[in-house]
Amino acid sequence: MKILVTGGAGFIGSNFVYYLLKNHLEDTVVCLDDLTYAGNLSTLKEALENDRFTFVKGNIADRDLVDSLFDRERPDVVVNFAAESHVDRSILDPGLFLTTNVMGTQVMMDACRRYKTGRFHQVSTDEVYGDLPLDRPDLFFTEQTPIHASSPYSASKASADLLAGAYHRTYGLPVTISRCSNNYGPFHFPEKLIPLIITRALADETIPVYGTGENVRDWLYVEDHCSAIDLIIRKGTPGEVYNIGGHNERTNIDVVKTVLAELGKPESLITYVTDRPGHDMRYAIDPAKIGRELGWQPTTRFEEGIAKTVRWYLEHREWWEEIISGEYRNYYEKMYASR
Ligand code: NAD
Ligand code: DAU
Repeated sequence: MKILVTGGAGFIGSNFVYYLLKNHLEDTVVCLDDLTYAGNLSTLKEALENDRFTFVKGNIADRDLVDSLFDRERPDVVVNFAAESHVDRSILDPGLFLTTNVMGTQVMMDACRRYKTGRFHQVSTDEVYGDLPLDRPDLFFTEQTPIHASSPYSASKASADLLAGAYHRTYGLPVTISRCSNNYGPFHFPEKLIPLIITRALADETIPVYGTGENVRDWLYVEDHCSAIDLIIRKGTPGEVYNIGGHNERTNIDVVKTVLAELGKPESLITYVTDRPGHDMRYAIDPAKIGRELGWQPTTRFEEGIAKTVRWYLEHREWWEEIISGEYRNYYEKMYASR
């Protein structure tokens, strides 16, 4: 198969590119990525040396570019990772989230319709379900949970999901959607909680914890997310939504303490700061459907995944030191100075 991966120079997309190249020697992979602040060509360095991989720089919302790419490449499957992905940035400036996450998804689906692509897979998020209360640990997000987004980011992802469902029903486009919980692992951009803890703690800088630190996220090692998407594009049923998660809920403060312990850094680095507006309290995925129907199971336990991730950041300092030395400094100032 020829698989077009959008957003393949970002965190999960790049891990998925490597997953495909390693596990499906018969497949070829084309990556479309606009190399925004979150995309990094050095992330794809090893893939670029592989004959089965092609990189194209471009915006998923650029209709002419996308059409000519489809005309040339005729992919069998499209996996749409490309997105503006950071909640805090969406709170500062929602506009780009709508252009990329909603309009970009529409452009990609229109191309799939025109070129009769065999599958369009939309990589969505558990955040489209809103949040769960802390005092109801018995509740989980299922595929039937109503959409109830809290941030401009999650609203844009929810909009794209609704559009993808409509393209399936109205035009018969073979769409699948996956909604995964929080990922962590190699190539995670340092603005997100776990790599932020690692990169700042290594420099003995403070770790900003929003609010009380009691918010709960459901963490999944990125390779487990990749294996789930891989199964869905090969065995999933068009028109279906699949939740992905590993029943691994942790409070933010627990996550911070676990990572600091792994690094051998003191908890005195922790600094409580002003909360994120509209901060979701708890995410918790029920992954029963993908387990039952496609036989997917996560394989990496949290402690093991955190140890692997910390090791990766220690062994790949050049990757993240370059990122945090540039424009990222201005971002950090703007985002955290008044907290
Ligand atoms: P990321 O921010 O690390 O990477 C996004 C990539 O998309 C970057 O390479 C960027 O250059 C590219 N991109 C952005 N706008 C583009 C555009 N207009 N055209 C082409 N390329 C563009 O994001 P991530 O964390 O890897 O998330 C990938 C996808 O997975 C997103 O759709 C996100 O909503 C979803 N998701 C993420 C998580 C998570 O925990 N990170 C969990 C569930 C779902
Ligand atoms: O649940 C899936 C989602 O997970 C994805 O759809 C998003 O793309 C991804 O960014 C992630 O969203 P979160 O908002 O949960 O991730 P983030 O790493 O930004 O924050 C995780 C938690 O940590 C959240 O409760 C906010 C808190 N936090 C975050 C940062 C960056 C802090 O306390 N301090 C921080 O500096």
